[in-house]
Order: sequence, then C-alpha cells, then structure tokens
Amino acid sequence: MPRLKLKRFRIRQPRPEALARYLRVYASEDLYRQPEALPSLSARELFGRDALLALDLGSGRGEYLVAQAQAQPARLFVGIEIHWKSIWDAVNRADAAGVENVRFIRADVRRVLAKVPDESVDEVTVLFPPPALVRKRRGQDLLSEAVLEHLARVMVDGAPLRFVTDHPDYFAHKVALIRSGEFFEEVALVQDFEGGLTRFQQFWESRAIPSLRFEAVRVPRSAR
Ligand SMILES: C[S@@+](CC[C@H](N)C(=O)[O-])C[C@H]1O[C@@H](n2cnc3c(N)ncnc32)[C@H](O)[C@@H]1O
Repeated sequence: MPRLKLKRFRIRQPRPEALARYLRVYASEDLYRQPEALPSLSARELFGRDALLALDLGSGRGEYLVAQAQAQPARLFVGIEIHWKSIWDAVNRADAAGVENVRFIRADVRRVLAKVPDESVDEVTVLFPPPALVRKRRGQDLLSEAVLEHLARVMVDGAPLRFVTDHPDYFAHKVALIRSGEFFEEVALVQDFEGGLTRFQQFWESRAIPSLRFEAVRVPRSAR
C-alpha cells in the first residue's frame, strides 16, 4: 500500500498572523544542544494561562485536533508534527475555523516531549503513527518506550491515552508494550470502521482496512 502517497498535496503558506498565533517551532538541533534555552511546552507559554493540555502526537493536517478544539472550546489542544506541509495545512485549518484553543508545534515528538512539564496533560491521542517496526525505522517510532515514559510523566492520573492504527503488527507490538508497563491501565481494545476525520483513517477504511483502537488511562500515582 502506498503509505507515502498521502503526504503529496498542495498547500498555501498560512498568513503571518495565523503563523504567529497557531505555530511554535522547536528545532531538533536546539532541543539537542540547548534545551534549557527553549520555552516549556505548557499552557502558560502557549495560551497565556494555567490549564491542562490535550496532546495529539503526529497531528498531521490537523483535521482531528481542530474539530476537537471546536467541539470543546473550554479545553486546550496541542498538535505536535514534524512535516512542514502538514503543519501549514493544520494552521490554515485552525485559522479558517477561528479557534483560540489550539496550537501546532513543529517538532520531533521524540525530542520535544522533554519540554512538557510533569503532570500537565489530561489526554494524549496518537492517530495512525508511522508503523515503525523494522529496525531501520525504529528511530521514527512515536510510541517507543522512551516516548511512553515521557507520557507517563506528563499525564495526570486517570488521563486517557488513545492510539489508533491500520497496522495489525504495529498495533500488537504497541499493545503488548503498553500492557507490559506499570503506568497505563487498559480500558478498551476495538477493531472497527469508525469513519473518522483524518485522511489517513478515511484512506485505509475506504480500502476495507479497519481501524485498530487501543485506549488506556494513566494509573493513579497513589496506586503504585
Ligand atoms: C500517517 S500520518 C497520520 C497523521 C494524523 N495523525 C492522521 O491520522 O491523519 C503520521 C504523522 O506522524 C508524523 N510524524 C512522524 N514522525 C514524527 C515525529 N518524530 N515527530 C512528529 N511527527 C511525526 C508524520 O509527519 C505524519 O504526519
């Protein structure tokens, strides 16, 4: 199946006001060399007030997150995405929707999570991450052990972690990994045709490939 095909699309650069409002950039080089010089990825820095954040890792073109921001205006949503054209599309989408409660971070998830404060996140969503199973792709894994350790650190007790993929082997691998740890308690495992908002979900489901969904919650710290 042509997984890369969905990254080919035309995009117009967002207007400067939209970039200023919705986009923050954390270069991997800076995250590596001088992380302490970069602002934390907190509600205070991103939205000017203290609150918990909902994170979308590998947020793509922002369809899911902007819809969430519209549906839940009292909450704050942050998408983290490495692909520039997807980021621009997401910024244009947020701008067109006029939402105030979403930001997109152009960064590598695996590096930028270090900038998220402890217990500052009330939801994490990972929709159709690259199914990085083979050794040479492991570096792209959005649900590696290291990422899961960060998520356990940043998520508040009881916060949901939602993960959806079309890829059965990757799904089995990640479900086993999450189950083997002590930080997340499983609440749902579903195989279904969900419809869904993102092009990736619609692409695979239109080819009769169901979505595989795993949901867990952050185990309360007092229970350990
Ligand atoms: C298959 S797409 C899914 C996008 C979106 N979640 C959706 O369902 O439409 C996977 C996304 O993860 C992004 N991605 C891959 N590795 C990443 C990384 N290390 N940091 C941030 N984003 C990453 C890709 O650029 C791509 O947009």
